[in-house]
Amino acid sequence: MKAYIEEQLQAVRKVTDFVPRVALTLGSGLGGFAKDLDVVATVPYKDIPGFPVSTAPGHVGQFVFAKVNDVPIVCMQGRVHFYEGYTMEQVVNPVRLMAAMGVETLFLTNAAGGAKDGYHAGDLALVTDHISLFIQNPLLGPNDDSEGVRFPDMTHVYDEGLQKIIKEAATENDIDLKTGVYVQLTGPSYETPAEIRLIRSLGGDLVGMSTVVEAITARHLGLKVCCVSLVSNLAAGISPTPLTEQEVIDAGNAAAPKFSALVKSAISRM
Ligand code: HPA
Repeated sequence: MKAYIEEQLQAVRKVTDFVPRVALTLGSGLGGFAKDLDVVATVPYKDIPGFPVSTAPGHVGQFVFAKVNDVPIVCMQGRVHFYEGYTMEQVVNPVRLMAAMGVETLFLTNAAGGAKDGYHAGDLALVTDHISLFIQNPLLGPNDDSEGVRFPDMTHVYDEGLQKIIKEAATENDIDLKTGVYVQLTGPSYETPAEIRLIRSLGGDLVGMSTVVEAITARHLGLKVCCVSLVSNLAAGISPTPLTEQEVIDAGNAAAPKFSALVKSAISRM
């Protein structure tokens, strides 16, 4: 384990010895998820030495430890993005710390632009694979062999068994769950229509500014990974209107009940 992760883990352990099994990152649309949980403990990011705290005003930045139907989880309420100016190492710091806490599964959520035919704003989509080619790889630099191998395999990033569980949970909740390949870009500018045509031609379906680097880091550490995206808007050039952050936030709020229901029901089966 890296020395700074060990130090951060000690700061968390001063507050709670709770050992979560599933780590959940809350993207737009799930910000309120932690509100109706059986909360065991919370740890503000600012109390963890060296831990990245979001620059976005009004962002809650804390770990929430809780149980979802007996499954012990840790939620990240707030996360930092590469476009905020953090190094890639800082962006994936939370994944390494949650692995150190004992989690076995990383459940990622996000809001994304939809580039695939048949998507509508407000859809939920199960991520089946990703494209990391437009961003810096989070594993650049010396490899820590205690974490994982130098050249980790990425054939099955999004665990088949977890995908099945999430599909079952969608059926049970009467949710029409789409599927897609997620492409992470740095942002913060949204894409141009030409970039979206390029991404579509490469096999990308969902575009966003998070997730892939976290998924790579988690696989390197041997965690199981799954991801659900909220299609907050149709991607540039497909959407009839220019993209705005407000549209993403509004879509997140509108989808929150169904997003929460799916995530809760899926985690209960993990
Ligand atoms: N592009 C990139 N990131 C996003 C989008 C988008 O259209 N929507 C939400 N996050």
